[in-house]
Amino acid sequence: MRQDDFPVLKNKNIIYFDNAATTLKPEYVIRAMDDYYRYYTSNIHRGSYDSSILVDYLYDSTRFLVRDFVHASSAKEVIFTSGATHSINLVVFGYMKYHLKAGDEVLLSKSEHASNILPWFRLAEEIGIVIRFIPLDNNYSLPYENVVKAITPRTKVISLAHVTNVIGDVRDITKIGELCVEKHILFHVDGAQSVPHLKIDFIHSHIDFLSFSGHKMCGPTGVGVLVVRESLLKEMKPVFYGGGMNESFTSNGNYQLKDFPVLFEAGTPPIAEVLGLRVAIEYLNFVGLDYIHQYERMLKQYLVQKLSTIPSVILYNKDSDSGILAFNIIGVSSMEVSRYLNDYHICVRAGNHCSKMLNEDMEIPSTVRVSLYFYNTKEEIDQFVRALQYCEKVFKTV
Ligand code: ALA
Repeated sequence: MRQDDFPVLKNKNIIYFDNAATTLKPEYVIRAMDDYYRYYTSNIHRGSYDSSILVDYLYDSTRFLVRDFVHASSAKEVIFTSGATHSINLVVFGYMKYHLKAGDEVLLSKSEHASNILPWFRLAEEIGIVIRFIPLDNNYSLPYENVVKAITPRTKVISLAHVTNVIGDVRDITKIGELCVEKHILFHVDGAQSVPHLKIDFIHSHIDFLSFSGHKMCGPTGVGVLVVRESLLKEMKPVFYGGGMNESFTSNGNYQLKDFPVLFEAGTPPIAEVLGLRVAIEYLNFVGLDYIHQYERMLKQYLVQKLSTIPSVILYNKDSDSGILAFNIIGVSSMEVSRYLNDYHICVRAGNHCSKMLNEDMEIPSTVRVSLYFYNTKEEIDQFVRALQYCEKVFKTV
């Protein structure tokens, strides 16, 4: 029983359906971090004593696990960051700022999360790039054909979530990646909502930049990853400068930087968090991403089928191929629904979910979002649906 691996589920009587915001942490991850603090705390890449050598090994070899997890070419392509937001900022301000010019087009969609919008807006202010939004379809998903149609001779970058955080649509990144190769367009994939849930293939999908966070994949907060195609890494500049990333510097202002990927990890990095991420990846490999994806699909179908029996429930994305479901109850605000569910110890998210432009297309200000993971169960869904059935009576919606 997977739930037994998660102390929060063992110690508290909750139903946790907010996995797109962050996931729960298995005992193994917590223990790995605790062991580091308790038994062998050391900085990395600086010491020659036993604990420091051990930590160097654990930290650096985690890059190989990440490489295999996302099927990148080389561990040198793996940069540790503080999270997906940091990763995307590094793409924009470490690479794009030096390779794009005024008038170059970047294609996004209106269902992107803030972190895949605001850095681009800022770059537009700085150097005059043009941001365009690829139109969504009537289900708020992004069909491949719309991507094809949106490309112009000035398109230089496509930056898209693999799976979006409100609609949960799974974009066909391999076809988009092939298109990018054909049209000489750089391709950034925000994998925050996909890497934890389904297999991703950096090489096969022709991805140039891949961003994701540790905390949405059973790992700790404060650590994320940016994978960059090696040929592009050579052209990328650091955004932070300091210790750990320099070879030497002298009083006349000369300095020599180290090689990538440590070049992009200035200062003391999130060591305990990388060691936690290492165990999170081992744990997800053990559970199996194919299993996780299939199981979430099955749970989502079950959830949709059950919720469809409640007359006042409006579902917005019942067909999207992920464990994310956005809904409303007619006549009740999303915030009221989430507070009501909290009385039953059910954790969901309400609001715009940091995807603040999506309501321009959906024409509703907010939704309640259920986001499932492999430790959720049909029994939890039954309890959730029972609570919502009663919600109709409490708020007199029918
Ligand atoms: N992107 C996270 C969410 O969707 C924070 O909740």
